[in-house]
Amino acid sequence: MTRRTGTVGVGVIGTGMISDAYLRNLVRFPDLDVLALGDLDESRAAAQGDAYGVRSAGSPKLVLDHPDIEIVVNLTVPAAHADVSAAALAAGKNVWVEKPISVDRVSARALLEQAAAAGLRIGVAPDTVLGAGVQTARKAILRGDIGVPVAAQTTMQYAGPELFHPNPSFLYARGAGPLFDMGPYYLSALVGLLGPVDSVSAVGARARESRSVIVGDAAGSSFPVEVPTHVAAIAKFERGPLGQSFFSFDSPISRVGVVEITGTEGTLVVSDPNKFTGDVRIGRIAPGADDETEPVWERVPLVGVDTGRGLGVLDLARAIRNDRPHIASGELGYHVLDALSAIDEAVLSGSWTPVESTVAEVPLMPDDFDPFAPTL
Ligand SMILES: NC(=O)c1ccc[n+]([C@@H]2O[C@H](COP(=O)([O-])OP(=O)(O)OC[C@H]3O[C@@H](n4cnc5c(N)ncnc54)[C@H](O)[C@@H]3O)[C@@H](O)[C@H]2O)c1
Repeated sequence: MTRRTGTVGVGVIGTGMISDAYLRNLVRFPDLDVLALGDLDESRAAAQGDAYGVRSAGSPKLVLDHPDIEIVVNLTVPAAHADVSAAALAAGKNVWVEKPISVDRVSARALLEQAAAAGLRIGVAPDTVLGAGVQTARKAILRGDIGVPVAAQTTMQYAGPELFHPNPSFLYARGAGPLFDMGPYYLSALVGLLGPVDSVSAVGARARESRSVIVGDAAGSSFPVEVPTHVAAIAKFERGPLGQSFFSFDSPISRVGVVEITGTEGTLVVSDPNKFTGDVRIGRIAPGADDETEPVWERVPLVGVDTGRGLGVLDLARAIRNDRPHIASGELGYHVLDALSAIDEAVLSGSWTPVESTVAEVPLMPDDFDPFAPTL
């Protein structure tokens, strides 16, 4: 095959709620050309085509058959991630897929193998961890700003995505729930900050058997809850640190984006891993402190990008052209799914559960990465 040069053609399959956040950026990045949009609901694809100036919009096949599309951005619901990604790979396209990579390890592993056999790549959301917040925190740890990391804690609790999503039932189905819907942000950040997960245990519960749609045309209708909506997990990381994480869609009290890494010399407060940027701070013990003394806080200057979703697609495109690894890799997405699945299994078994996969050190974003510079 002749090596392509120049800007990278992109097509999107799945033009629902999150497609706005992606398309807003994908059409502005000079290194990308958004060439076609597809959805099972073709009218939805057509509406997004009109909104973002993408002339070719309709069926998923339109995207798969387009000869100049090199990356298919899969923004379908989790239960469709594997099938749509497999079809894109079969059509000779690289894939960027929303999180989680799939709803089970077998289909996720099959995707990695299909991509490797075809010489194609898979990139997996979230790309928020490529943003300034988490990248700044990673660099602080690498510099030794908190000494040796020993423990992590994360919290994500609120009353659930039906507060804002007009079609929330998939978020309470297999492959979602607070663990699989929000867990990828926290686990991807922790694996970048601390390395791979070795083993986990967890407890979980379901507050209600059914929930109701609150916003949009279907408001008032109810749907079943298939997954735990409240999960408390503990983890051991391969390099030694321990972690405790809480994921809940049952709490009226919203406390999200809490990620703290405690090291031998201080505690690093990381910005929300579901956002591209935010405060990154280090608390250290104050001289003469007692148990009521506030730590001494140091704000870590932010380095990196705050563009919003689509950054991972752009990194994937540039990595393809420059023949370098992309950052949010399929292997990282698989390891995160493996760790989340092990947590899910531990909820059922009550046992300490190994995480079989591992992943190489996640590459850092280059300090000079400018999404709006034409580089290809
Ligand atoms: N909504 C958010 O705030 C948000 C944020 C971050 C990530 N995500 C992730 O983005 C993905 C999509 O979420 P959403 O909120 O946009 O969902 P959505 O239900 O609003 O949209 C999904 C779209 O995919 C289409 N679709 C489903 N199966 C398909 C198939 N087999 N082929 C083609 N099209 C298909 C649907 O018709 C729909 O238009 C999920 O993986 C979700 O976890 C969502």
